[in-house]
Amino acid sequence: MVDLRGRDFLKLLDYTTEEIEYLLHVSMKLKEFKRNGQRHDYLKGKQVALIFEKDSTRTRCAFEVAAKDLGMGVTYLGPTGSQMGKKETIADTARVLASMYEGIEYRGFGQDIVQSLADYSKVPVWNGLTDQFHPTQMLADIMTVMEEFGSVKGKKLVFCGDARNNVANSLMVICSKLGMHFACCSPKELVPEEELVKTCQEICKETGGTINFYEDIMEGTKDADCLYTDVWLSMGEDPSLWEKRINLLKPYQVNKTVLDNCKKNAIFLHCLPSFHNTGTTIGKEIFEKYGISEMEVTDEVFESSQSRVFEEAENRLHTIKAVMLETLR
Ligand code: CP
Ligand code: NVA
Repeated sequence: MVDLRGRDFLKLLDYTTEEIEYLLHVSMKLKEFKRNGQRHDYLKGKQVALIFEKDSTRTRCAFEVAAKDLGMGVTYLGPTGSQMGKKETIADTARVLASMYEGIEYRGFGQDIVQSLADYSKVPVWNGLTDQFHPTQMLADIMTVMEEFGSVKGKKLVFCGDARNNVANSLMVICSKLGMHFACCSPKELVPEEELVKTCQEICKETGGTINFYEDIMEGTKDADCLYTDVWLSMGEDPSLWEKRINLLKPYQVNKTVLDNCKKNAIFLHCLPSFHNTGTTIGKEIFEKYGISEMEVTDEVFESSQSRVFEEAENRLHTIKAVMLETLR
């Protein structure tokens, strides 16, 4: 019997395969409740604090709506306006918040910060994205794969692009934990850290998963069930890196040729936000400076019938709700 009461949710390496599968199962149930309009305010009277040191649409909204659906009160602490990190240490902030709230979400920079919040607070802390990991995103991604194919074990998921960012790192971990075949298509400069790869390879020995790296995108995406990409420059990285990143990652853009190289029924996933046209300020700036109107994915693939990006975004709500429910029950 899985019991996650009182647990932090900082990275998936801390969770067993059984615990991850359990959270996915609860997420499915909660999605059904939401769809049927069935009340599920099991955590009535509790309060959670949401700390965002970086921008967010999906994660913030998912935490807020999920908390409210569960009957909880929410306080949002944005990149400005609180004392955290400026006049007050993480350790002090953690102890103050833990005396008023039943749970704390943190999105920001180093994994050490969210770890420190957890170390000093007596209530569960949830990682809403750090430079290293994005664990809540993973549950939504895998839930989307499950909904599509019925099961995930043995499925091949290919990540194309900046393979050492938070999303790629976390995908490698969850695919390993769930016995999936994870492949990375990226230049040598942008592969995950060796230590994390080794840890995941050890996990694969138990689960039957595999991890492979390819410089050739056509070789790596062959027979893929899921094709995944993310932005070429993550939040917190220096914008002066754009030119270098674009030149490095242009050959790893997910386009129709790449999608057609996967299995016929393959799906396209992206954590979002995505630069697939010039409809954003940054997208426009990049076009004016470097002459490219689409980056990590073409508009054609993003809008295609194989794209599941909006189903994936909705699943952020159900999965984040499952994490809060099970750790605060
Ligand atoms: N995918 C994701 O985390 O989106 P936000 O940055 O909008 O939260
Ligand atoms: N790698 C991206 C993920 C955004 C959800 C970033 O950190 O900006």
